[in-house]
Amino acid sequence: MTSTDRKGIILAGGTGSRLHPITMGVSKQLLPVYDKPMIYYPLSVLMLTGIREICIITTPQDQDQFVRTLGDGSQWGLRLTYVIQPSPDGLAQAYILAEEFLAGNPSAMVLGDNIFFGHGLPEQLQAADKRKTGGTVFGYRVADPERYGVVDFASDGSVHQIVEKPDKAPSSYAVTGLYFLDGSAPLRARMVAPSARGELEIVTLLESYLHDGMLSVQQMGRGYAWLDTGTHASLLDAGNFVRTLSERQGQQVGCPEEIAWEKGWISSDQLLERAQLFAKTSYGSYLKRLVV
Ligand code: TTP
Repeated sequence: MTSTDRKGIILAGGTGSRLHPITMGVSKQLLPVYDKPMIYYPLSVLMLTGIREICIITTPQDQDQFVRTLGDGSQWGLRLTYVIQPSPDGLAQAYILAEEFLAGNPSAMVLGDNIFFGHGLPEQLQAADKRKTGGTVFGYRVADPERYGVVDFASDGSVHQIVEKPDKAPSSYAVTGLYFLDGSAPLRARMVAPSARGELEIVTLLESYLHDGMLSVQQMGRGYAWLDTGTHASLLDAGNFVRTLSERQGQQVGCPEEIAWEKGWISSDQLLERAQLFAKTSYGSYLKRLVV
């Protein structure tokens, strides 16, 4: 199953100040999460949705490193476009920066430091992809909702509002960093006024959809992992999670080559070429084992 017209955005700018001093010289989203760069994980989410045209938004100083790491995407049967965010002025700004790239199409935007894993994830993604009008976000139960945008459900289970970092959370459901929005997102983003902290807030953009009765929240239940990588401890935990899972199961988490090959976007020969490139690593051996 492939998405036809939905395009992808990976928002990979920001300051990464909670990871200083590591992120003084390298982008957070290029740091390792066990055996691969962090951005491979959100990239895999877009690929699992069936998206092949993806815009990568970075800071001006980090763009080169992203291009060096990911290239034009053809090794995965993708088309990657790079756009600069001059300063970290908020998540909703991504839609303005990517307006030309989107060219009126619906999009799926994922934050470059968000890791999702779980049985049934492709089905969740494809369900969201099917809604061509309006927006879909994902609610994930967390122990500390006050740190996130939180879903306030009405008594009939519909979404009443989304509250950003509330003092007292109306539910335990945080909004994850994955947003499926229709083609009106750039226009709506242009109407968002900067918040008190000077950012174009994604919650304000989502409110515009909510106001029009066009926002769905899909819940990601117990069987899913939504991992944080924003602090030293959570980055290490995420790496350990990936290592434990992949060693135990003998299956990769967030492997773009595997997804591209399974979807028929690259041939077995192309997969083996990548395996050869990483011949000295278990990642390379894994790719080789997929075909032989
Ligand atoms: P945050 O975690 O809110 O910010 P950050 O990554 O800069 O980290 P810190 O809080 O440690 O300073 O951002 C979430 C994601 O969104 C992350 O992948 C960076 C990205 N981002 C941008 O690309 N542009 C922006 O303007 C903002 C606010 C975030």
